[in-house]
Amino acid sequence: MAFDRIFLDELSARNDIVDVVSQYVPLKKSGANYFGLCPFHNEKSPSFSVSADKQIFHCFGCGAGGGVITFVMKAEGLEFPDAVRFLAARCGIEVPEQGEDERKAARHRERLYALCKDAGRFFYDTLWLPENRSVQQYFLNRGLHRRIMNKFGLGYAPDSFHALMDAMAAKGYTREELLDAGLVSRNEKGRVYDRFRNRVMFPIIDVRGNVIAFGGRVMDDSKPKYLNSPETPIFHKSRNLFALNFSKTTRSDYFILAEGYMDVIALHQAGFDSAVASLGTSLTEDQARMIARHTGQIVISYDADGAGQAAAQRAIDILKKCDLQVKVLKIPGAKDPDEFLREKGADAFRNLIERSENHNAYRIEQIAAKYDLEDDEARVQFLKDAARMLATIDSSVEREVYAGRAAKMAGVTPEAMAVEVKRELTIRLKKRKAAERKEIRSPVNMAQPKDKTLAYTDIKSAKAEEGVLRLIFSDQKLLAGLQKELPAEWFSAPILRKIYEHAHALDEHGQIVGIAQFEGELTESEMAHLTNVLSASTPAAEQRQALTDYINTIRLQRVKDGTLAEAGEDPLLTFGRIKKQNAGGQMI
Ligand code: UTP
Ligand code: MN
Repeated sequence: MAFDRIFLDELSARNDIVDVVSQYVPLKKSGANYFGLCPFHNEKSPSFSVSADKQIFHCFGCGAGGGVITFVMKAEGLEFPDAVRFLAARCGIEVPEQGEDERKAARHRERLYALCKDAGRFFYDTLWLPENRSVQQYFLNRGLHRRIMNKFGLGYAPDSFHALMDAMAAKGYTREELLDAGLVSRNEKGRVYDRFRNRVMFPIIDVRGNVIAFGGRVMDDSKPKYLNSPETPIFHKSRNLFALNFSKTTRSDYFILAEGYMDVIALHQAGFDSAVASLGTSLTEDQARMIARHTGQIVISYDADGAGQAAAQRAIDILKKCDLQVKVLKIPGAKDPDEFLREKGADAFRNLIERSENHNAYRIEQIAAKYDLEDDEARVQFLKDAARMLATIDSSVEREVYAGRAAKMAGVTPEAMAVEVKRELTIRLKKRKAAERKEIRSPVNMAQPKDKTLAYTDIKSAKAEEGVLRLIFSDQKLLAGLQKELPAEWFSAPILRKIYEHAHALDEHGQIVGIAQFEGELTESEMAHLTNVLSASTPAAEQRQALTDYINTIRLQRVKDGTLAEAGEDPLLTFGRIKKQNAGGQMI
């Protein structure tokens, strides 16, 4: 790992987890721990706990857990090194030099940022050359003013296979850098050429203001209409929102989520400075979380066509998960916000926003659109369909309001609708209970890690391995000489083995074996698993005996699966011998 362990310990010590978490969630003390509502999943009663002693957090609801760095990674949506920098800045200590690899990668990224910025500059300059008046005219014809074009840094990639390459080479960038930034492509023959040719260019800028990628549009009807940068070391499509660098400082109390470049630019030009776009792909959870960090309300303003409406339905679910109030806007008589603004103007759009409906109303309308409500049979079907959707609304008040609305649409009494909704609610409740019972009854499920990629292949052994970890985390002294008695290779679960090995490594270097010391070693979900494992209680007395029992169980499993035979001994004999020892509870 890139950062020095001693520095990371210092960092964790200076950023008390209770203080840090309190900046995000109100916590209440109860006994040795603090409790609050989990910031990582939707809940009404607190199952999120923070331990001041152990300096860890753990959610019994969603299973999230880890130390202070993991918390910041999740809460701020940062990668490990950035979370470390975030905490270092918070407590005013310096981040020491990283390892050579890390430094190299960071320098490379810096080069790519600089290159994208210069490329953006090149496209911009090219657009405003007198010979490219017709390109300028393309934007002007689409209703953009020069001011907004400059603000968004719009440009033009000339009709050439090497214009950008040459200009960037003259500035000292290498071919590899151009390839890594996704600005040039390589054909099968190994020839390298400009990726964007004869396209108007939209720079994609990250939240900190760095140009990280481009979208380029043709000026006629050829395909593809837009060409975008590929994923690069500085551009991760699913983790960026177009125009968030501007929208983050809006005074508006809601954000507008649109589909395309032009929609967002037209919206900003019309004074809607909180518009962002997910750029044509379906909204990701990362993007939803980024929005939730800046606002509590969002108005989805996708294209009016079927694809746009289907995408809106998916976006609703993702945005709701982040606790955003979601409204959905319908654009009458135009295909997208850009076209609407051009035809009807900003006031008309503001009107649409004010009349935009809560997502529940929107959903009911989407359901109603499927039925001919003049027809009795269809009305009955609509009621059933609507009731199923209404039963998913948690708040009873909200449920009643929208049930009333659905009743009106179908021309039935609110009472009749209420009966239908109640029936659906009962069905849902029964299903949920059954699912819960099933989960509790199934020991295999209970025993398995939440993250399926960590699944145990030998539950019995893994449970004993977990027990060993709980013991060594509660008393580090137990590690002394343990490797001989219990070699790491005996562990059946790779994740538990990894933890066991790192614990030994820490111990050998005279370092503390605690959860915080695993941050940076384990992935987010591995970290969550470790906290889950350690949150089960350890036997207070007879630790040495408990450890021996666990070791025997693991050994037995290894003999059973044939990994282990005592030197020269028949596996069956070994098996019998260990079993006998276990029954006697004596030490080997
Ligand atoms: P649209 O097809 O709705 O385009 O795609 P648009 O934004 O209205 O574009 P104009 O008004 O014709 O210029 C919405 C978004 O989907 C992505 C782009 O980000 C676009 O803004 N897209 C679309 C692509 O990436 N590639 C394509 O070929 C088409
Ligand atoms: Mn459009």
